[in-house]
Amino acid sequence: MASVRPTVGDSSWFTHDRFGMFIHWGTYALAARHEWVKHVEQIPDKEYQKYFKHFDPDLYDPKLWAELADEAGMKYFVITTKHHEGFALWDSKLTDYKATNTPAGRDLIRPMVDAYRERDLHVGLYHSLIDWHHPDFLIDDVHSMRGVPEREKLNASRDQSKYWQYLHGQVRELLTGYGKVDLMFYDFSYPPQKGHLDWNSEELIKLTRELQPHILVNDRLDLMDTKGGWDYRTPEQFMLREWYKVNGRPVVWETCQTFSGSWGYHRDEQTWKSIEQLLTMLIDTVSKGGNLLLNVGPTGRGEFDYRAVERLKGMGEWMRRHGRSIYGCTEAPSKYPTPQDCRLTWNPEKKRMYVHVLNWPIVQLHLDGFGGKVEYAQLLHDASEVRFSQPSVHELEALGPAAAERNTLMLNLPVIKPNVAIPVIELFMK
Ligand code: GLC
Repeated sequence: MASVRPTVGDSSWFTHDRFGMFIHWGTYALAARHEWVKHVEQIPDKEYQKYFKHFDPDLYDPKLWAELADEAGMKYFVITTKHHEGFALWDSKLTDYKATNTPAGRDLIRPMVDAYRERDLHVGLYHSLIDWHHPDFLIDDVHSMRGVPEREKLNASRDQSKYWQYLHGQVRELLTGYGKVDLMFYDFSYPPQKGHLDWNSEELIKLTRELQPHILVNDRLDLMDTKGGWDYRTPEQFMLREWYKVNGRPVVWETCQTFSGSWGYHRDEQTWKSIEQLLTMLIDTVSKGGNLLLNVGPTGRGEFDYRAVERLKGMGEWMRRHGRSIYGCTEAPSKYPTPQDCRLTWNPEKKRMYVHVLNWPIVQLHLDGFGGKVEYAQLLHDASEVRFSQPSVHELEALGPAAAERNTLMLNLPVIKPNVAIPVIELFMK
């Protein structure tokens, strides 16, 4: 495979750590029916103000959030400093529409960044390019005010360049006021309605890299063909079939996904993925050289709800024993085909292959291409030996004429599936 496209920002820790926490939090948490509620229901500012007025996260405990992320095995986090509603979670000097002026009465980003850093998690900031509150943001078909009769009259008095100066000003506040920031997740461009000219993206990415030279920047500034315009690709809410490539070249990539059907807290949404499904997402992503950014939408009281906590703990239980099949791992060399109902992750530094068994086989697992290549094998969760052999004459007969060419290794497995969500076999390669 071609070498991975280099990034401008430092991606070494990113492609090692593999697993992060996304956090979508704002006044929409009080509506509790998706972070796009203002758009979907076309709620006028005046009516939407009730969420600002009642935003009082009295149970907010960022140290507990950081503990839950850390114990889930997450190594970085990305917080929505401002989402499309325009509400700032930090004490911005450029707007009154901020957490400081709600019953919360304080900057909510600072204690969060401190708490996650205390546990050595890398810091990522999500920042919405879109702003349905700002008086100079030109109303378009995505805007919450798209249906107002006086839309054109309002736009005649709006100046988008004033908006992008505000946008740049707030980014400057965030990238100078909160220490080292490792990731910037801008969201999102939708040309031809709003693209790089509407954000002055060329200047914005220069500012971003000037203020935080090592920072990794995602791919949503509408600068796909601009040198240094992005560092990593961010496919969201779907699973790739292979390593993300741009012009045929593998790139650094991260998929962001939700536990349920919403990024922001959604009380009544029921499509919550199981722990096994979530672990499979993580394993599958790493097996294709990617990262998983898994989202939590905290409530208006400032807590992760019980469904999120349950899943974070369940993932952490698996990660505690299986983390080394994720961290520092990537796609397996193509000479090792993926066995049936499995995924492979590969640690090139340690020359360890990890066979993630999604469907426990009957006694034997056939690994084509591995014959003579494995020095030792064990179940990762309890380090119990897995003995292996190459097919006997009888087995080859049963496996058919092509078997001899396949250089198969047979792993002899216990009949009963080990008592872990997804068993992993660790192969010490020769
Ligand atoms: C989409 C959604 C936005 C969410 C983002 C996360 O852009 O519109 O609400 O924050 O995905 O990547």
